[in-house]
Amino acid sequence: MSEEKKFFAVALDGPSGAGKSTIARNAAKELGFLYVDTGAIYRSVAYSVWQKGIDPKNPEAVAALLPELVITIGYGEDGLQRMYVNGADVTAEIRLPEVSLYASQVSAIPAVRAFLLEMQRDMAAKDNVIMDGRDIGTVVLPGADVKIFLTASAEERAKRRYRDLREQGTPQDYGVILVEIEERDYNDSHRETAPLKCAEDAVKLDTSSLSFEESKEKVLQIIKERLHL
Ligand code: DC
Repeated sequence: MSEEKKFFAVALDGPSGAGKSTIARNAAKELGFLYVDTGAIYRSVAYSVWQKGIDPKNPEAVAALLPELVITIGYGEDGLQRMYVNGADVTAEIRLPEVSLYASQVSAIPAVRAFLLEMQRDMAAKDNVIMDGRDIGTVVLPGADVKIFLTASAEERAKRRYRDLREQGTPQDYGVILVEIEERDYNDSHRETAPLKCAEDAVKLDTSSLSFEESKEKVLQIIKERLHL
């Protein structure tokens, strides 16, 4: 069965802190594509679980909450993605450190992944997208036109996060950040359902020794080459 293809899909996967979201947002802007941050969708579920005092490691309890959640994505005038749960704007709340940990735990639950799958595919069916996540090239959009797996060493990612937090006026110990990154990497890549892994047909890009600008240019170059833009 061949379906007529109307839109371009770029899958950008990789571990936390590899710079996916900033690079994807900037690349999408330059290409005029819609940027979809799928981590924010998982974070929205995680925030609801946290707010309701549900144990994020209890699959039955988390699954029971899902039918109550209407998760929607909006785009502000600034073009930035905003997240809503049952109409309430949770864009800021989903970035809380507690929510990061909950997101890593709830995203391992198969019912949560199934709940969000259709929503992600629908978005890619309606626009040219750059979608960033962990399983976009492997599970969500296995037929994506371009697949990039963006990575960097855990130490380099921890250094970047350390600098960002210091600049934001909320410094944290480098050692603590590194342990958290390693923990999330382990959780994300060892779960049974849709673990973080590089798709066989993805271009792997290690940004450990690249600046942000260099990484973005490299990503744009890969996309433009593959899409003949
Ligand atoms: O990219 P992020 O850090 O905002 O993602 C939050 C969590 O959600 C992260 O622990 C991994 C998970 N996630 C996922 O399992 N699948 C995705 N497509 C995106 C994120």
